Amino acid sequence: MADLSVKVAGVEFKNPVIAASGCFGYGHEYEELFDLSKLGGISVKGTTLTRRDGNIPPRIAETPSGMLNSVGLQNPGIDYFIEKELPYLLKKDTVIIANIAGSSIEEYIEVAEKLNDTSVHMIEMNISCPNVKKGGAGFGTSCDMAASVTKAVRKATNKPLCVKLTPNVTSIAEIAKAVEAEGADAVSLINTLLGMRIDTRTRRPILHNNVGGLSGPAVLPVAVRMVWEVRNAVDIDIIGMGGISKGNDAAEIMLAGADAVQVGAALFNDPFACVRIVDELEKWCEVNKVDKLSDISGGVVTW
Ligand code: SIN
Repeated sequence: MADLSVKVAGVEFKNPVIAASGCFGYGHEYEELFDLSKLGGISVKGTTLTRRDGNIPPRIAETPSGMLNSVGLQNPGIDYFIEKELPYLLKKDTVIIANIAGSSIEEYIEVAEKLNDTSVHMIEMNISCPNVKKGGAGFGTSCDMAASVTKAVRKATNKPLCVKLTPNVTSIAEIAKAVEAEGADAVSLINTLLGMRIDTRTRRPILHNNVGGLSGPAVLPVAVRMVWEVRNAVDIDIIGMGGISKGNDAAEIMLAGADAVQVGAALFNDPFACVRIVDELEKWCEVNKVDKLSDISGGVVTW
C-alpha cells in the first residue's frame, strides 16, 4: 500500500485529506458515521474572539455544480471553542487546525494568543471570508494588509501558521508572496469565489446578504490554476482546496503544487466524502504506481 502521509508546516498528517473549515462543524455529527481518526486533519469553523450569530437567512443557495454561502462566520467564540470543543477534538488522533478570523488585527492577535496555551496543532488564519462587512477578505485582498496581519499574528504565536487566501484578487501569487515574507509557514487556497443569484420571480437576490461565496465542483479548475500559480511563486507549503469531490481531484490539485488538500462542499452531498477520497487516493497510487503520495506534489508536466 502506498504511503499517504504528508507534512505541512512541519506537522505530520497520516494522509493529505483535511475536512475543510465550515463544512464539518466540530465533527460531532460526522463521528456518528465514521471514525474521525481516518482523516488527515480537521479544520474547524472560523473562530472569532466573541460569539457571532452570522448573517440573516437565507444563507445558502444552490448553483449549477456548486453552492453559494453567506454564513457570516457564525461561531461560538474562541473561549467556548477552547473550553468545550478542543479537548474532545484533540482526543481524535488526527491533526486539529484552528481556523481563526477577525475584524481587526488586534482581534486576530488576541485569538491567536489564546491558542498558545492549547495543544492545537496548527492555526489557519482566515483572511478571505467574503461574507462579513469588517475584516475577512478585507485583509486578504491587499498585499499590505495581508502582510500586516501575518506579521502581527506571527509575532503572537509559535504555532505553525497557515494563511487562507481568497481567489477574489488580481494576483493570488502576490498575496502569497506577501504572507510568506512575513513568516507564514503555509498558505491554503482557495476560499470561495464571490457570486450572486437572483430569484427572477421576486427579483430579489436569493441570499439575504445579496452576495456569497461559490464553492463545489464548479470551482475546481480555478483552484487548480491558482494553486499552480502560487506553487510557482512561493517556497512554503500549500493546502489546496476548492471543488474537490473525488480522489482524482485531490491528485490533480497536488500535481498542481498542493502538499495536502481540504474537502468542503462535497461533504454536503456525501458525508463520507473525505474518507472515500482517502480510499480513492490509495487506489490512484496503486494504478499510477506511486509509492509515496507526497512525491507527486508540484509534479505537473506543463506543455
Ligand atoms: C462564512 O462563514 O461566511 C464562510 C467563511 C469563509 O468563507 O471564510
